[in-house]
Amino acid sequence: MTASKLAAGNWKMNGRMVHLEEAMAIAAVNPGPQTEVLICPPATLIAPMAQALTGTHVRVGGQDCHARPKGAHTGDIAAAMLVDAGASHVILGHSERRADHGETSADVAAKIRAAWDQGLTAILCVGETEAQRDAGETLHIVGAQLAQSLPDGATADNTVIAYEPVWAIGTGRTPTTTQIAEVHAHLHQAAPQGVRLLYGGSVNPTNAVQIFAIPDVNGALVGGASLKAADFTQIIAALADA
Ligand code: 13P
Repeated sequence: MTASKLAAGNWKMNGRMVHLEEAMAIAAVNPGPQTEVLICPPATLIAPMAQALTGTHVRVGGQDCHARPKGAHTGDIAAAMLVDAGASHVILGHSERRADHGETSADVAAKIRAAWDQGLTAILCVGETEAQRDAGETLHIVGAQLAQSLPDGATADNTVIAYEPVWAIGTGRTPTTTQIAEVHAHLHQAAPQGVRLLYGGSVNPTNAVQIFAIPDVNGALVGGASLKAADFTQIIAALADA
């Protein structure tokens, strides 16, 4: 049975061996069984981090995988390799990958299938740009991304959805609680029953309590603030208390 809440850290292209200490410090604070904690480090750190965190409550995930199980794809990583390295989850369809690597929702759907085939839980990211929000297209955009990126077969155990407005990522700006509530209510309607919904985009120890009080917010996907144990453990504690 999956925990009802999830605090996930996305380290993006940050972290070297020396930073395993931060992961250990994050694992030193256990929020209890209702709150799952996950760190998604760069691929180079998945195996050593999974090893370092063995026996703790903190799990380790990847930030991407290829749609194919193996083959001539230089620089890519297969879902089976993530599992082999000790990962339980993989972030797919992050806006930075959609922008930097031209990933389409169809590509993301193929990657999710590949992740499921290996028993990984997929964390599917959706979110609008600022121009799309200004044009009043937010619900249409996230709804279309969800419909096109999530294959049939999603369950509460194999899938998590993260709403990450592109304009809130790494900017220190967050939507209002009303705006987050509106999108999460929409996703709650559209997503398979029981799938947890995370909010992501400039979550920090100061705004976490307010964000976790919003209906249909079951956790967070945290970038910058997950790199420091002092910050991430405060966010995790706020989620556990919510
Ligand atoms: P920040 O928390 O740094 O805004 O990043 C959010 C994010 O993109 C997590 O996937």
